[in-house]
Amino acid sequence: MNSETKNNPETKNARDLIAFYLDAGADALLGEEPVDRFADEALVPPRANSAAVVPPPVAAVRQKPTENAATSPALFSAPPAAPEAAIMAARDAAKSANTLEELRALLEAFEGCMLRATATQLVFAAGTPKSRVMFVGEAPGRDEDISGVPFVGRSGQLLDRMMAAIELDRTKVYIANVVPWRPPGNRTPTPQETAICLPFIRRQIELADPDILVCLGQPSTQTLLGTREGITRTRGRWFKFDTGSREIRAMATYHPAFLLRSPLQKRQAWRDFLALKKTLAS
Ligand code: URA
Repeated sequence: MNSETKNNPETKNARDLIAFYLDAGADALLGEEPVDRFADEALVPPRANSAAVVPPPVAAVRQKPTENAATSPALFSAPPAAPEAAIMAARDAAKSANTLEELRALLEAFEGCMLRATATQLVFAAGTPKSRVMFVGEAPGRDEDISGVPFVGRSGQLLDRMMAAIELDRTKVYIANVVPWRPPGNRTPTPQETAICLPFIRRQIELADPDILVCLGQPSTQTLLGTREGITRTRGRWFKFDTGSREIRAMATYHPAFLLRSPLQKRQAWRDFLALKKTLAS
């Protein structure tokens, strides 16, 4: 960029705007072309008497597009489901899956969680189903959103090294997240988003059928193990976890992203991994 362009007020405004977006967590492009969201509103006919209008039922699972819908994007994109309806739809969908492949397909079609609108793709699982150990994190980050695979970024690489230290790798474990879509800007999933995704991860655990569940970090621990205690109190402890088919053992440990920020805590995490190794050998 020559100095004339660099000092041009328009260039400065554009740079300031990009910095503002980055600070707000908008660090990825969602598409090649800009989308005018206000244009969609013009397609919705105004309500004659909005107070008297009962909202139409909404489909949380994407229906096959009809010919009409295929030619009319405004008809095809369903309005967001109310949270309770979305949780019910998630429960029904998750229950109906008999295999992990079916569960993945149902999640791909599920429209009850708005995170799918901003995520690049579903991030379903990594590793090997039916392994003895299953790790569950919170939600995908930027690298996972791009690749579609959980724990591939810096925290995933640390997780790989921690596993290698106790002779585990992705051929011997199964890995997923409580929330399978990246929250914009890596923000924490809301309680509502977590509640909507919970039936799916519970069913995923049941179908993957591990002997040991390892919850990575506080959100995963509190959501799956139903505790309100903080991770400093829960880490290293063994819990019972009912998969729906049987009772297995579950452990909480620090999230690798936290360990990257607080390397002194790696000592505690190492203890947890040694306990995991011992339990696997017993
Ligand atoms: N953090 C998570 O909780 N999950 C991932 O997949 C990546 C980072």
